Amino acid sequence: MAIKFIRNTFYASVYGTGAYKLTLLFGVPLYHLYHQLSTDTQESPIFTHTQGTYVAVSGCTDGIGKALTLEFARRGYGAYLLARNFEKLDNLQNELKQLTPANLSPPSPLTPKWLKIDFSKASLEEYREIFATPLQFEGSERQSYQHGEVSIMVNNVGTGMTNRPVFECEPQEIETLIKTNIYSYVMCTKHFISEVKKYREGKQSYIIYISSIVADLRNPFSTAFYQASKLSNKVFAHTTYYPRSLSIDYLIIKPGWVSTNLTKNRAISLSTASQQEETQAIFKSISFTRDTYAQWKHLALILATNAIPQPVYEGLFGYLKEQARVKREATQGKQ
Ligand SMILES: NC(=O)c1ccc[n+]([C@@H]2O[C@H](COP(=O)([O-])OP(=O)(O)OC[C@H]3O[C@@H](n4cnc5c(N)ncnc54)[C@H](OP(=O)(O)O)[C@@H]3O)[C@@H](O)[C@H]2O)c1
Repeated sequence: MAIKFIRNTFYASVYGTGAYKLTLLFGVPLYHLYHQLSTDTQESPIFTHTQGTYVAVSGCTDGIGKALTLEFARRGYGAYLLARNFEKLDNLQNELKQLTPANLSPPSPLTPKWLKIDFSKASLEEYREIFATPLQFEGSERQSYQHGEVSIMVNNVGTGMTNRPVFECEPQEIETLIKTNIYSYVMCTKHFISEVKKYREGKQSYIIYISSIVADLRNPFSTAFYQASKLSNKVFAHTTYYPRSLSIDYLIIKPGWVSTNLTKNRAISLSTASQQEETQAIFKSISFTRDTYAQWKHLALILATNAIPQPVYEGLFGYLKEQARVKREATQGKQ
């Protein structure tokens, strides 16, 4: 019986047949949906083991990164802000200080800390500086960081591209996307794991990777580079070696549309989540799973799009892309 079950599951995963394929396709997502919709607010053990430490968030001055930073702070975490815009960093610090008791004496360990870093052009030294103390790189600007105080790394920073084919993209644009969306999470993860190895061995640590629903879509909804960067994020997260002794767990979030600057603040709808909805969904996913769309809206979106037969899908999106190209060329012609 057990052997038959294992054999059939193996065949199902390889050949994807019959009831097993249906279970794999719908059973797991439906369980995730049930989890997201359930009112069970049982706290994850991750929170129990990391409370009172810092969370480093890349690209945290707007959108999902900012919403996550504020929610972590509300739950008693210190924020280690990794961002490029000094004015926005300052504003966020002020918001955080209203949430955290920074005026305690001695000062609360939860006082926000920051490092000014532009991920689209960060040097090797600047990446090293994130978890270095005292300051080693002359050009860096930040507040003092204590080794081992960051228990959670959120690889959030990302940029998009207008929906154009590869031959129309400027090389500079492609380089910025690769550095911001790919190089950033590779380097932050590398330095975070080294830091954990030296200063947090055996203590719970956690990495959150913000990927995208496009990582699992069959056809490019967006530009190939953006989609590839988000797929690489997911694959990297799953295949990175996290030595057991380091107690590092991870979570991959694959949002669909969220109303942020990146999506030109799309109206909240059945397919588009608010930043608050997304944040709540991410917190519900922590230690429940390792790979999720988090949001019930986005789970429904991927199930619906993946249920469309391939020829219809290709025809529909081929048509939409062609329409977009014609419109773009007409606009360019007018200018
Ligand atoms: N929104 C969605 O629908 C959606 C869907 C799927 C996945 N995602 C992913 O979610 C992540 C966050 O996206 P979002 O929608 O929250 O975007 P957002 O609202 O545009 O926020 C992006 C944040 O990253 C910062 N940032 C951008 N480039 C940077 C750089 N080179 N160096 C330092 N900081 C930089 C921005 O700072 P500045 O203010 O200085 O630009 C901002 O704080 C991205 O990885 C994105 O791919 C978003």
